[in-house]
Amino acid sequence: MTPTIGKLYNEPHPDETRVLTWRFGKPNSWKIDTYLADGGYQTIMKALQMTQEQIIEEVKTSGLRGRGGAGFPTGLKWSFVPRSSPKPKYIVCNADESEPGTCKDRLLIEFDPHQLIEGLMIAGHAMGSQHAYVYIRGEYRFLIEHLNGAIDEAYAAGVLGENIRGTGFTFHVHTHSGAGAYECGEETALLDSLEGKRGVPRMKPPFPAVAGAWACPTLLNNVETFSAVVPIIRDGGAKFLSYGVPKSGGTRLLCVSGHVNKPGVYEVPLGMDTMTFINGIAGGVKGGKLKAVVPGGSSCPILTADECQNLPMDYDSVAKIGSMMGSGGMVVMNEHTDMVAVALRIIKFYQHESCGWCIPCREGTTWLKKSLQRYADGGGSEADIDIIHELAKNMLGRTFCALGDAAAMPTISLVTKFRSEFIEYLKKPRAVHQHELVGIH
Ligand SMILES: Cc1cc2nc3c(=O)[nH]c(=O)nc-3n(C[C@H](O)[C@H](O)[C@H](O)COP(=O)(O)O)c2cc1C
Repeated sequence: MTPTIGKLYNEPHPDETRVLTWRFGKPNSWKIDTYLADGGYQTIMKALQMTQEQIIEEVKTSGLRGRGGAGFPTGLKWSFVPRSSPKPKYIVCNADESEPGTCKDRLLIEFDPHQLIEGLMIAGHAMGSQHAYVYIRGEYRFLIEHLNGAIDEAYAAGVLGENIRGTGFTFHVHTHSGAGAYECGEETALLDSLEGKRGVPRMKPPFPAVAGAWACPTLLNNVETFSAVVPIIRDGGAKFLSYGVPKSGGTRLLCVSGHVNKPGVYEVPLGMDTMTFINGIAGGVKGGKLKAVVPGGSSCPILTADECQNLPMDYDSVAKIGSMMGSGGMVVMNEHTDMVAVALRIIKFYQHESCGWCIPCREGTTWLKKSLQRYADGGGSEADIDIIHELAKNMLGRTFCALGDAAAMPTISLVTKFRSEFIEYLKKPRAVHQHELVGIH
């Protein structure tokens, strides 16, 4: 265990609803003895009494939607896996967590790794699978060791392995390290990387549910998604649904950073009002009035302060105003934030992380970066704003994976919603330095 384990803990705020994080902060919450004392590994025993269809139905009832970014309904995804296929089925957990602003999966693994393992086991039973792979970003080296420690504990306690507790259920969990590529968080690039190949996206269809790891049926979900399965099966899908709103069931781990007084990771009911969250749990805007909010990670279209008023934080409400809940990485910006600098910083990330596999993304992000760099250095003109806009629009939907969209969407939102600031910027050209940015890494 590394010294950081257990240190990144926020005291619960009274307005939080701790369903996945209720054990955070308890002494040694990551150890199997405390997990067992808290009723751990009883939910898999309950699940083993249920049929695969009953489990999938319960997940559908919960209204759980993928917490990795796209928000696809989890129960529906589970129903797509051809369980009658003669091929082996695999469970793959996406712990690549590379979207700027997002840092929740590491806490779920850090504070409650056994909850994740139990979620993987439930998914394994529901899919008829005996093996789960947890793909963890390479920068989380300490977490891999930490999770491996929890897996070893689970084998030693007889909750992982062959014929678990005499139930006839066999299940194994393996960890696999990424090597620091954002692209390997994309599900098909992740699978290629897991198979030992260069991590580039695959053509879809076939989707991983049908032909995923080693061309076998594969269920791939995010860490938070699998962790949520434990309370869903333990307390029932209806209970989980009731924490949130219809079509956005349950709670969400929000990672709030930037200009707020209390940055951190908080678990809130889906549907919570955005400003109530920012002014309450997040401690209010720091250093000036609110200017803009990235609602769910840097790939999401940015919201203006006006758009954040009376905005429930659920998948459909945020989609209705043209953005996304994404991966839960909220970045708050005050009135002094330079939006040209924000646009440049974001595009630098995507240009650097484009895997280069397809041309619209590789060339598009490079041209966007060059154009925005020139603009930020004071060498642009008003016409560049339209060129940047057009270029980004031409990338949308034209790439193998959504990395191209992830670069284009925030750029489009920035040059359209803050166009007057971009024009104003031309009057006082100056160099942009990265240290001017707060909250976007
Ligand atoms: C470029 C790119 C990077 C992604 N990175 C991640 C990631 O780090 N973690 C993650 O869970 N999903 C990531 N996703 C989304 C995954 O492709 C996939 O939709 C998700 O893991 C499915 O899990 P869910 O249904 O539980 O959300 C990424 C997608 C793209 C296009």
